[in-house]
This record gives sequence, C-alpha cells and structure tokens, in this order.
Amino acid sequence: MLILAIESSCDETAAAVVRDGREVLSNVVASQVATHAEYGGVVPEIASRKHLEAVSLVVREALSGASMTLDAIEGVAVTRGPGLPGALLVGVSAAKAIAYARKLPLVGIHHIEAHLFAPFLERPVEFPFLALVVSGGHTHLYRVDGFGMYATLGQTLDDAAGEAFDKVGKLAGLPYPGGIAIDRLAAEGDPRSIHLPRPLLHDGSCNFSFSGLKTAVLNYVRKNPGSTEGEHLKNLCASFQAAVCEVLVAKTEAAILAIGAKRLVVAGGVACNSALRAGMAKMAERRGVDLRIPSPILCSDNAAMLAVPADHYLQMGMDAGLALDSLQTWRLDDVAAERR
Ligand code: KG4
Ligand code: ZN
Repeated sequence: MLILAIESSCDETAAAVVRDGREVLSNVVASQVATHAEYGGVVPEIASRKHLEAVSLVVREALSGASMTLDAIEGVAVTRGPGLPGALLVGVSAAKAIAYARKLPLVGIHHIEAHLFAPFLERPVEFPFLALVVSGGHTHLYRVDGFGMYATLGQTLDDAAGEAFDKVGKLAGLPYPGGIAIDRLAAEGDPRSIHLPRPLLHDGSCNFSFSGLKTAVLNYVRKNPGSTEGEHLKNLCASFQAAVCEVLVAKTEAAILAIGAKRLVVAGGVACNSALRAGMAKMAERRGVDLRIPSPILCSDNAAMLAVPADHYLQMGMDAGLALDSLQTWRLDDVAAERR
C-alpha cells in the first residue's frame, strides 16, 4: 500500500510517501526552527501560520520526490495528536481534504506511536520490545506488544528530557533548540567537572524528573559568574548532559530487568543525542539486549514514521473519514484501549 503521511504537531511541517509501511520513497521536513529561534521557543500562533504556508508545498514535494502524483496514493495518514492545537489542525485539515477529494481511506496516528515505530523503516523489530521515547514533550517507557498494544511503565513527573535540554540551553544563552547546541558543546567538555543531581535515580520506579536538575543548573549559573562562557560552558553542558543521560540509561536498564526485555527501541528527538546513543549502546551490550535507535533524521519529527502504524491500521480496514478530529492531549494508553 502506498501511503501519503502528513505531520504538523509542533514546529516541523512534514510529508512522506512510504510503501507497505517499510520503504521510504520520500521524506520531506520543512523546519520552522529558525523562525522560532528568534523567540527562544515555539510560538504556537506563528507555528500554525507557518504550517499553513508550507503544507501544500511539502505534500507536493513529497509526491514529486517519490516520482508520483496523488493518483498513485492508496491511503492517507496524519498526526492526530498530541501537539499544538492550531498546528495539528492544519495537518488534519489537509489530510482530510486530500482523502475526501481522492476517496482514500484516512487514519489519525498518535505522535508517540509514530516515534515508537520509526526504527521499523530501517529494519522491523520483533514484538514485544521495551521503548524509551524521549522528545520535547515526552519521556516515557513503554512495553510494546504489537500495533496498538502499549503499556506505560514509567514517565516524567514534570519536564520532558528535551524540554530540560531546551530550558538549560536557554538559560545558558544557547540558540533554540538547546538540545542540539548542548550536544555539540558537551563533546568538548568534561562531564565530571560539575556535580549535578541525578533525580529519582534510586527510587525504584521507572519514572523520571528533570525540573529539579534544571533548577540546579540555574542555581549553579547564578552562583558562578562566567559559567556560561568558553571552556566553563562546555563543562556545564557536558555535566548536565551526563546527568540526564545517566538517569535515562539507568531507568531504562531497570525497566529491562523488570519485564525481562530482549529488545530495546530508543526514539524521539533526544535520541539524536550522541552521549545518550553511546550510553544506551554500552548498557544494551552489557545486558545482552538488541538495541535499535533510528538514524537521527528518523528520530526527530518526520512524517515517514507515521506510515508504519498507519499501514497496519489501513490494512485492517480502518478509515476515520471526515469525522477525524485533532487532539491536543491524547494518552498513548487511550490509543491502546481504543484499538483493542
Ligand atoms: O521528537 P522531536 O523532534 O519533537 C517533539 O516531538 O518534541 O524532539 C525535539 C526535542 C527538542 O527538545 C530538542 O532539543 C531535542 O529533541 N533534541 C536533542 C538533540 N536533538 C534534538 N536533545 C539532545 N541532543 C540532541 N542532539
Ligand atoms: Zn516528536
């Protein structure tokens, strides 16, 4: 089945053409990062307008990149939520218009469900597997037993990992999004130079908390003039990144032991982080677990990843039709309950 997928949940307008939920024929991402960087974070109203300007162009580019027209498309997938309401509305409206005009089946996909299946575009992963999704809005550990079969094992009690990266980046005077800038600077810093807390490291749960760590960085910066400059800034980035990664790896390891996982998927924008990729690889090797982290382009927001679950649901005969609405908040557990 040839699927056209559209994603517009945050600050990337994306469209892709994927065959059989596996073969990516095109994967176009129009990023608004430069626009939002001026404001130090995503401005929802600007995001909606930018999506509106970009969506038709991005869809057209995805089709031409796959050397086809809409005539060849057999199904449409779109991010239904969670995300910014105005931003989601643009993608959902575009997908509904295309599906209606072309009499194609349409399926609304949960953004995190899409991230979970991104590695399948490179090589399928056998069920069941443990998944850590780390993005700007999520830090969740799931047990994945199949399409639509998800159980939450743990989650952040406050900030998501990506949110913490971006907030620390902002207070250190780095460009938005902070995660990318911190990763780059940390490579030249000493991760042991500044002692920062490892929140909930030994609480016995699979939950996370990052807001205290962010506050610890803020307090350190206030007490240490010059800590956001030169070598000192590199050390600060490396120390903060090490604290986040140590907690993410340790909690994932605890979840592996708790459910006896043999396979681990790490996905979402923060999965681009070089220290996290290295830390997870080391831990997975020690535990004899098959680790799958998608290539960076498939970790951050894109539309191709939607096509993996969408192919499954469309093959089952699912069609949301014109009744499809967007959902600003939507728990993955509720998707699992709905699909059952
Ligand atoms: O999945 P994503 O592209 O969008 C959301 O669904 O949120 O994730 C974006 C997040 C941002 O917080 C960004 O700072 C973070 O991923 N990120 C990184 C890196 N690249 C992106 N964080 C740490 N290191 C990176 N290399
Ligand atoms: Zn995302």
